Amino acid sequence: MKKINSLILSITVSIIDYLYRGRHFQRFWVLEEIARAPYFAFLSVLHLRESLGLRGPEHIYLMEEHFAQTLNETEHLEHMESRGGADYWIDRFFARHLVLVYYWVNVVYYWLAPKSAYHLSYEIEIHAATTYGKYLACEDSNDEDILRIMNDEIEHSRELHKAMELIK
Ligand SMILES: [Fe+2]
Ligand SMILES: [Fe+2]
Repeated sequence: MKKINSLILSITVSIIDYLYRGRHFQRFWVLEEIARAPYFAFLSVLHLRESLGLRGPEHIYLMEEHFAQTLNETEHLEHMESRGGADYWIDRFFARHLVLVYYWVNVVYYWLAPKSAYHLSYEIEIHAATTYGKYLACEDSNDEDILRIMNDEIEHSRELHKAMELIK
């Protein structure tokens, strides 16, 4: 499953990178719009599991973590919007349709195989941190907002790694 995750991710990322070459903040906005969806998919499934009496020992911890992550990702999204990332109709159209599909994919994936679903998001967070790192290295090393967001993504990847360990 991990190989399939990596393959799907690298194909999707290559397409987005190609479409958004030279348009940094539009690309960041699209990536943030998509990368946040798994967290509220995880929350949706955890709520449903709770309602069905399937609450595990790690349930409260995971819900708190994923809620904090959705808030943090919303801050990232707002930051990219403040820098013009969502100014164009075509970018909003592209990202908002993609996220609809991606949300439901994550709901089903997390219900059926939570550890693999966490691994996919873990890879995406690593990719996000790498993307911001490349921007800092090649475009603007003094951009403190992007540095802070990059560090948030690294933290998210650590949290997802811990979640994977927890549900072993
Ligand atoms: Fe983010
Ligand atoms: Fe993130």
